Amino acid sequence: MPWNYSDKVLKLFMDAVKGETGTHMGELENPDGFGEHGSIVCGDTLRFTFRVERHLTDPTRDIITQARYLTFGCTSAIAASEALCTLLEEQGKTPIEALQVTNQDLVDFLDGLPEQKIHCSVMGAEALQKAVADWASKRGVDLVELFPELAHGDEEEGRIVCNCFSVTEPYLRRKIKELGLQSIAEITNALKAGGGCTVCHHTPGGLQDLLDEIWGVKPAGQVEVAASHIDEQPSPYRLGQQIEAAIESVVRPLLQDEGGDIELVDIKGDKIYCRLTGAPGQSASTDQTFKLLVEQQLKEQVDDRLQVIAV
Ligand code: FES
Repeated sequence: MPWNYSDKVLKLFMDAVKGETGTHMGELENPDGFGEHGSIVCGDTLRFTFRVERHLTDPTRDIITQARYLTFGCTSAIAASEALCTLLEEQGKTPIEALQVTNQDLVDFLDGLPEQKIHCSVMGAEALQKAVADWASKRGVDLVELFPELAHGDEEEGRIVCNCFSVTEPYLRRKIKELGLQSIAEITNALKAGGGCTVCHHTPGGLQDLLDEIWGVKPAGQVEVAASHIDEQPSPYRLGQQIEAAIESVVRPLLQDEGGDIELVDIKGDKIYCRLTGAPGQSASTDQTFKLLVEQQLKEQVDDRLQVIAV
């Protein structure tokens, strides 16, 4: 599915994958704050690190001076991560102030994100929160005393509600309330949960039961909206057609603009085997940039679970 991205999202993404000066893709060695959110198995993951200038006597007045990220995700995940790093560095925030950065701040910085991509901004805010918790434990700051609402324990230990994306009940309960999510579609857009096989939608203890328990029972019409997602899963034949169409209409012209080209070799499940040719300079880093570009475009145009293997 082609997404309607703002110019800002596209520019941040292109600058980041090209490694332009001032972008933030990477990882800091021995960071003051380290946080991860998501899972590579589920398609999106973000590792976030930051460094501070330490205040001599009061750690709560440390200032974030550098922020970096690594993400396995789509265009919007990269752009949202860039937005997060830029906001923190440019505004010289303390880690405590950084906790006030919400996913909506990232969406605003990006001049908006498609509804179905809101989870990319949520991922950034969650990784930031974990990195600040890491900084606090290293600097002896009691975050829970300052923000009692952060005392939510290890949410990864709870019952898994959505197996496709390994999303637990405690995490879902917190985020449904925090983000005011009212429907299964909103949960999927913000957290990805429910965006795969759909089994967790109406199973006992599933997403609808959680929504009903938190907000009260919803009108019956909502069930149909969530169930219609089943028909969106393409067959292998249809998936192959969509991939070929995306390569011809978007990917190949993009590579040819940069002096390269692509040959589709095979498709096995969600793995796309491609031969990438003619990369300028033929260096390993350029090959990697091309592979990343192809993968991002196929995720955007077809399905964000696709992986590109260069052969
Ligand atoms: S179990 Fe939730 S989408 Fe498959």
